[in-house]
Amino acid sequence: MPNLTINGIAVSAPEGTTILNAAKQVGIHIPHYCYHSHLSIAGNCRMCQVEVEKFPKLQTACSTVVTEGMVVRTDTETVRKAVTGVLEFLLIHHPIDCPICDQAGECGLQDYYMTYGLHKSRYDLADKIHKKKVQDIGSRIVLDAERCILCSRCVRFLDEVTGTRELGFFRRGDHSEISIVPGHPLDNNYAGNLADICPVGALTSSDFRFKCRVWFLKGAESICTGCSRGCNITADFKGDILYRYKPRVNDAVNRAWMCDFGRLEYKKANEDRLLVPFVRQDGREQAVSWGAAVPQVARELSQAAAVSGKDGVAVIASPQSSNEELYLVRRIASELIGTGNLAFTDRAPGDGFSDDFLVRGDKNPNSRGARLLGIPDGQAFDDLLGKIAAGRIRALLLFGNVLGALPEEETGKLLSKVPFVAQVGTNNGPVSRAAHAVMPSASLVERGGTFTNCDGRVQRFHAGFPPRGKAKPPIEILLGLATRLGAGWSYEDERSVFQEMSRTEVAFRGMTYESIGDQGQEAGR
Ligand code: SF4
Ligand code: SF4
Ligand code: FES
Repeated sequence: MPNLTINGIAVSAPEGTTILNAAKQVGIHIPHYCYHSHLSIAGNCRMCQVEVEKFPKLQTACSTVVTEGMVVRTDTETVRKAVTGVLEFLLIHHPIDCPICDQAGECGLQDYYMTYGLHKSRYDLADKIHKKKVQDIGSRIVLDAERCILCSRCVRFLDEVTGTRELGFFRRGDHSEISIVPGHPLDNNYAGNLADICPVGALTSSDFRFKCRVWFLKGAESICTGCSRGCNITADFKGDILYRYKPRVNDAVNRAWMCDFGRLEYKKANEDRLLVPFVRQDGREQAVSWGAAVPQVARELSQAAAVSGKDGVAVIASPQSSNEELYLVRRIASELIGTGNLAFTDRAPGDGFSDDFLVRGDKNPNSRGARLLGIPDGQAFDDLLGKIAAGRIRALLLFGNVLGALPEEETGKLLSKVPFVAQVGTNNGPVSRAAHAVMPSASLVERGGTFTNCDGRVQRFHAGFPPRGKAKPPIEILLGLATRLGAGWSYEDERSVFQEMSRTEVAFRGMTYESIGDQGQEAGR
């Protein structure tokens, strides 16, 4: 492991580490544009120049590997002059339209200008070369060629990650610009990542454009619920409105990327939400308080068990629920109700598409967790639907907004065979339109917990803001129900439920929220 000094600070970095990354190790930021941790090194922007003792010229920190005894300086007048010069060069033809640029607030040009620039342009505005603005180059990305600094991150992403190569450089010199290959729009399922990796406002997201200034947003560390991969994300919100998902780096799961299907999943939390508990009487919805809803559901479940035996009650769990929620659902079904009719399905409406990169056919974040907790699916789920169709279930407690992949008409028809259906759900759907009692639950960013992804990695997601309307976190709903069904449980929240799981469930044995951290931890088998 080579030992070196950077600005006088001693650093030991593994063989092959670049100066830029060794500096990061000791909290020294070296400015950069073309360098991206998950792409090949291009070394073309020249922003990362540093002084290295015994080297005759400045070196690019992103491409120079550390060696034993190296003495690096990033804070000298020569370095500063060089970086300022590069920045001035990059800004010569830049339109400086920050007030109307969606990247403002998270733009590399703005940030470094404040540190290294603050110069007056020596180039007359009238002499600037203009390029095409607001180009629609695909359904998810808008290109403003004038703002591009030709760093080639986008080209490398499409070359090295998706292999689709839609973007390239055209023309020469001052007139060089990024553009799509004619006739080949940017429509691969990972195009949204380009808005994240473009360091300036040249590639912006058509979905997010002009919706909210980024300095108003707060972020919650979360997990995408679009499929069982469980890509790590940051969910950006203002108040109780979600504005976007962006990928968070996790090399064991999604590296630095996410798919566009998952990226748009945030919309579900904003649209068509169930916000108040209600009961359906004579076909009409009637809003009720939580104080009335939970006892009524518990009473109906208990009465159905008393009248037709415990197996006259059924519980359908959801693989959209967290591990903690599923653990309570299982215990309510098996210990408090005592029914053997508990199942879930990973089937969902939609085409179940997958690819050979991130997207999985199972469009749920926690099917693996449900299985590890011993909740059956497959045939058990089909058998349960068979019992419902045969009129053998008198009361059903259901989680989620759909019944597997059943179309809406069939869901309504099937649920009409059950005298009492109670739902815990987040959005309106076929189930809430048929249920007799609906208990609205918090969406992803309104609650915390863990999911277990398709590879058995347990990952945490965090609450960003309180549940909308009168919705409640499912843990709270489940604990209320459990108390009414006679349990004396003393869990306070999802953390205390997880602590219990780590003692009693083989798959989660010994784990803590701290050991899972922000990168996840393998579940036991
Ligand atoms: S569009 Fe953005 S990512 Fe692509 S070369 Fe230009 S500045 Fe770099
Ligand atoms: S691959 Fe799956 S988990 Fe990842 S972003 Fe897409 S839908 Fe979400
Ligand atoms: S970041 Fe090193 S040359 Fe661009």
